Amino acid sequence: MSGPFMDVTISRADPARVAAQLEGFARLSEPGSSTGVTRLAYTPLEREAHEAFAGTMHELGCTVWTDQAGNTIAERSGDEPGLPALATGSHLDTVPDAGRFDGIAGVVAAMETARIYAEHGIRHAHPIRFVAFAAEEGARFGQACTGSRIVSGLTTVDDLYGKRDADGVSLADAMRSVGLDPSTVAEARWTPDEWAAFVELHVEQGAVLESMGTPVGIVELISGSTRILLEVTGRASHTGGTPMHLRADALAAAAEIVLLVESIAGDPRHRGTRATVGRLDSAPGTITTIAGRASLYVDVRDVDSDRQRDTASEIIARAEALCTRRGVRLSSTLLADTSPVMLPAWLRQAVASTCAELGLDHRIMPSGASHDAQMINNVIPSGMIFVPSRDGISHSPEEWSSPEALATGVDVLAASLLALDRLLLVAPEQP
Ligand code: GLV
Ligand code: MN
Ligand code: MN
Repeated sequence: MSGPFMDVTISRADPARVAAQLEGFARLSEPGSSTGVTRLAYTPLEREAHEAFAGTMHELGCTVWTDQAGNTIAERSGDEPGLPALATGSHLDTVPDAGRFDGIAGVVAAMETARIYAEHGIRHAHPIRFVAFAAEEGARFGQACTGSRIVSGLTTVDDLYGKRDADGVSLADAMRSVGLDPSTVAEARWTPDEWAAFVELHVEQGAVLESMGTPVGIVELISGSTRILLEVTGRASHTGGTPMHLRADALAAAAEIVLLVESIAGDPRHRGTRATVGRLDSAPGTITTIAGRASLYVDVRDVDSDRQRDTASEIIARAEALCTRRGVRLSSTLLADTSPVMLPAWLRQAVASTCAELGLDHRIMPSGASHDAQMINNVIPSGMIFVPSRDGISHSPEEWSSPEALATGVDVLAASLLALDRLLLVAPEQP
């Protein structure tokens, strides 16, 4: 091995620097008593994180800009004029009360990669772009991956008015509140003549790598997700005055729906499906009134797209029957729907060969969570590198990946991008 690739295998990522960057982002959190990080999509705190990213990337010699979707892009120029860019990155927003790794690890990996390249004067033919995506988490608006969906053409300006957060703020208004103009999002589209390939590093958010003692996962298939809102309308009434047989208790019906969702996903026909009621609200919400209304937020995930949609339909149909039996009404609204995605084999192979060259074991595996790479793969070939998550926990303050494990992932990412640079220079068309 010679040239820049050799340099990057010697100049490994620095775990302490990776940990310090993660710590810096974790400090950008809504004040509160929780130990977790809260930095929701299209909020001033999310923008602050993007500015911190932009500042560091600028210092590393990159040209930095923010697109119309609020994604921040930093480019390290390549040696061959006119070539499309290789790219890496992830997201900087979080769910409420999150850990410090989901998404952020991939952005910090991008920053560390840029630092290794800069410190060692590594040259590449293609430009390399380091991307912090906006609004990846569906926690605020129901839909995940808004920034990457916009650049992939999967979300357009019209979609930004219908999706609202719990306070009724639309995606469009949230974007405006942080200085973005939603009417211009079409201009953010990525095209294959400008972008060549994308690789995202992410924490696994499962326990497979840890349990197998494998340092690197290479993602083959990413689960889809169908999200529905089920609203139950019963009759609010006095808890003492209303006999049990004369009630239309929306919350009792909702409780049955929670267990229905769990049992449908658990039956043998649905092996591999994950279905969850992650949120249940009821009104009026007092101890002395039977609930007149209840809202359930249901997330159905699957690597099989037919089974994903069939499961969502079955949940609605059986919840309707259950509500009829209980004398309450049900309405359903589709909040978001994303298909599973198979990532290209040649790109997986390029990352796998890089692992071999670095002397690292890897495992080809599916992803249960959604990711920006899933959306970007609609425009350009995309790949994902997973690093182990302690106990598989994610979307929780307990989320943890060691700085050393992350640094190993960065080594794979930094070397893989250079391998892709060489591969696509000689063979730009891959199967
Ligand atoms: C993204 O974090 C997801 O919900 O899968
Ligand atoms: Mn994520
Ligand atoms: Mn997440």
